[in-house]
Amino acid sequence: MVSGINGIAYEEAGSGSGALPAGRQAPLVLIHGFPFSRKMWKPQLEAHFRGRRTVAYDVRGHGESEVGDGRYTIDLYVDDLAALLDGLKISRAVLCGLSMGGYIALRTAERYPDRLAALVLCDTKSQADNDETKAGRATAIREIQRNGMAKFAETFVQSALSDETLAKKPEVVEFAASMIRATAPEGACGALRALASRTDTTASLSKISVPTLVLVGAQDKITPPVGAEALAHAIPGARLELVPSAGHLSNLENPDFFNAELAAFLAALR
Ligand code: MLT
Repeated sequence: MVSGINGIAYEEAGSGSGALPAGRQAPLVLIHGFPFSRKMWKPQLEAHFRGRRTVAYDVRGHGESEVGDGRYTIDLYVDDLAALLDGLKISRAVLCGLSMGGYIALRTAERYPDRLAALVLCDTKSQADNDETKAGRATAIREIQRNGMAKFAETFVQSALSDETLAKKPEVVEFAASMIRATAPEGACGALRALASRTDTTASLSKISVPTLVLVGAQDKITPPVGAEALAHAIPGARLELVPSAGHLSNLENPDFFNAELAAFLAALR
């Protein structure tokens, strides 16, 4: 069921949703990548991680969340996440972010370290954009404004998915493209500006003191495994796993492997 807090749409799964007293197991909060929506977490929402309360939400400007004026920053997305956690009475969460979701999780770790019970960083990195990437964001904004989301979806899935997924899993390709087509152009352009202006979180990785799992598709072309290796190296005690047969959307491209790793990590948390 879809609900909303402060213009942010979310849904919950797990027997803990609303029913169990807060604090028994820290809820799992899933943060999607650009320019997708909470729907990308379908295999994880269906996984029932031992009944752990699981929340997936749409980042502002994506899915069913409000678009507003389209002027976003990663810090605004973090404000939205903090308000969502407050609204859901979640004091500490296992934050699981993919790509842009990882940037949001890492900035949350800097601003609100006490709200974290654990971190799962998927297909993401800590470095800010270099000039070439910023220029690429500007080109993407122009393309979206000129040609719309359907055209953008056609090209974006080619880089987001592994060659294997593109060749053998047409249903995953269509699912990913359908989420992009459903994203408001103003929301996507606002997100591109937020991504281009984000801060670099590398310097604070060594201060992360919660259990951390780093997952990355072995064939990720957008945030290749080298960035994940650097994260796992810099975060004390972090564990790195390469997701085989997967590109940038590792949770969707190889959900069995991804869920098994996530389930084992969650089960080991105290
Ligand atoms: C994402 O998947 O969130 C984006 O591709 C991240 C990025 O472009 O940096």
